[in-house]
Amino acid sequence: MKEQLEEILKNGVQEIENVQDLKALDELRLKYLGKAGALTAILRGMKDVKPEERREVGSLANLVREKIETALSEKLAELENAKLLADMEKEKVDITEPSRGIKRGALHPITRFNNKFMEICVEMGFTVIQTPEIETDYYNFEALNVPKNHPARDMQDSLYITDTILMRTHTSPAQVHAMETLKPPFKIVCPGRVYRNDDDSSHSPIFNQFEALVIDENVGLKDFMSMVREMAVRLYGKDVKMRIRPAFFPFTEPSIEIDATCQICHGKGCSLCKGTGFSEFFGGGIVNPKILEMSGIDSKKYSGFAFGPGIDRSVMVTNKIPNIKYLFRNDLRFLKQMR
Ligand code: PHE
Repeated sequence: MKEQLEEILKNGVQEIENVQDLKALDELRLKYLGKAGALTAILRGMKDVKPEERREVGSLANLVREKIETALSEKLAELENAKLLADMEKEKVDITEPSRGIKRGALHPITRFNNKFMEICVEMGFTVIQTPEIETDYYNFEALNVPKNHPARDMQDSLYITDTILMRTHTSPAQVHAMETLKPPFKIVCPGRVYRNDDDSSHSPIFNQFEALVIDENVGLKDFMSMVREMAVRLYGKDVKMRIRPAFFPFTEPSIEIDATCQICHGKGCSLCKGTGFSEFFGGGIVNPKILEMSGIDSKKYSGFAFGPGIDRSVMVTNKIPNIKYLFRNDLRFLKQMR
């Protein structure tokens, strides 16, 4: 029996030493220590050993079991460690590989203009509002003193959805929404997209406007002019020059068109300003009292002014963009140039 135990120890340790994978190691564990294992069989046979030898054989058997167990657990640790290293090697990240670079985004030139202009308006006490892009005929025309069959409707080629619902042709419906919901005095500005059935290199079916409306007691043309002048100074600097031309809008009376120093040639005259040194800045005027009354504001107590030009033209001029369509194509090559 002693020889058997020594045999088991020698072979067992050797076999465990030679094992290459976890599955084979587990099989060896069963072969020696499992229920039907070699060592287990011997321990079970102890009862047949002569009493005077039992002690010696018993302690030898325990020793063999301990040694086999130690060999098994050492091998297990070794194999697991090797597997971990192999996995790490497989998942290795080459930190010296050159990166693809970080692609930086940029704000669209229209967004940049809006951000800058809205900041100026907020500093001057305006509230920025948003009103729907899909409007009813009432808000887009009727409440702005443009009744059905009025020739002014021809100025704006509208995109109708139904007989009474259309894509707003200008941001001026924001004036009506403001007058209906706010209590004077107030100052609002509404930037947004507008839609017209127009399509050439300087007209797009979608373009951008903003609408500014100031309602208070005793406000007139001089307040309008000084506010617009202040805005031009904040946008273009102290040296900006301005000029006024008469205009017509059904919802303002009188209506004016205001030009400011051309920002390309700084007043010297260039092809963009057709040699005049000026480019269109704002259009607007004194709110027609009829409009105030229609929206429930007492025109004897309150007056106001409104203005709202296209944004795209000035963004095109200052960024030297030859075709308005570039602003709406979302072409990454164009947007990259605008950074
Ligand atoms: N809504 C007018 C347009 O689209 C511009 C305007 C705004 C005029 C506000 C007067 C007052 O042409």
